[in-house]
Amino acid sequence: MDSTSPDIERYLELDFLRATEMAALNTLQWLGKGRKEDADAAACDAIRGMFDLMDICGEVVIGEGIKDEAPGLFIGEKIGTWREGSPRIDVALDPIDGTTNVAKGMGNSISCVAAALRQENGEPALQDIPAFYMKKLAYPLAVRAAWMRDKSLPIDIDAPIGEVIEVTARILGKEVRDVVVCVLDRPRNAELIEDIRRKGAALRMIVDGDIAAALAPAMLTSNIDLYAGIGGAPEAVLSAAGLRCLGGGMRAKIWPRDEAERQSLIARGWGDKLDYQYMSRDLARGERIVFAATGISTSPLLRGVEVRGSTAFTHSVLMRARTGTVRFIETQHNLQRKTIRLRSAQREIKI
Ligand code: FBP
Repeated sequence: MDSTSPDIERYLELDFLRATEMAALNTLQWLGKGRKEDADAAACDAIRGMFDLMDICGEVVIGEGIKDEAPGLFIGEKIGTWREGSPRIDVALDPIDGTTNVAKGMGNSISCVAAALRQENGEPALQDIPAFYMKKLAYPLAVRAAWMRDKSLPIDIDAPIGEVIEVTARILGKEVRDVVVCVLDRPRNAELIEDIRRKGAALRMIVDGDIAAALAPAMLTSNIDLYAGIGGAPEAVLSAAGLRCLGGGMRAKIWPRDEAERQSLIARGWGDKLDYQYMSRDLARGERIVFAATGISTSPLLRGVEVRGSTAFTHSVLMRARTGTVRFIETQHNLQRKTIRLRSAQREIKI
């Protein structure tokens, strides 16, 4: 494989998808078992095992959230074979987004990976934000395009949500009551939730897993128009990478949990970024981005793993920023023959 190929993502993308498929398959045994750490460890083990086979000089730039204290795949970890001449790839991953959902056997959990060619200036293409949370607003392509034409439109992280809903309704040709806004159900989002209800828009709350929710407004097949509210910062970057491929847009702003986190961010040199409004392009840079996700349990984005007889069906999305190609892939895995390469075993294991 020629690492200078202008289209190297094309050769690599299927292996990223394999990684999320393997993570989803290896997590299935933990669905509903109440043991989120074990589920996370199983997903990480399968992803690492897959990366061990990939001829890339990969580096985890966004790994398990600092808040998770989860096993494995941390920022700075080298992944891939690092064979000489292999492409330098930044990898952001969430082996399970919606770990609690998996532990409870609930819907809305996915495994996802975003990968991007390291920028020519040597800076990572995917921006690590060293905060727990960001305030986010994700919207469809039509809304982004309207804002590009008229930058005075209130498509802004600080704009009152009522105004954002109103302008979205106008752009999408809907009534306000039909604009569907998805929000993570958390006390910190309570005021936002009240404002959405007061405006009369349609609210959809989720208990966990906001990457799928942030991508939903940009998916032509989803029934969600906006994603808004405060959720995980690593998840914001993965969402931005996916949205860069889909063509939708996102704004995000660091949301320190308390004064101590604010001060710690300032001490680490992030003071000037606290009021910065990130666009998806600031979080996922360049055009050479690949995003892969596989459903573990069913979400608005993807169906979960289904086992029928001795066949497991996985449902995934694979997309690229440069071409904007979005592939939905259903894979049939023959469980009588299927093996997964686990890092812990250093070999293929029968599932
Ligand atoms: P995990 O699967 O890593 O636990 O994340 C689930 C999630 O709901 C994310 O999708 C979301 O961004 C974040 O947690 C919100 O954080 P918190 O649960 O602390 O409110």
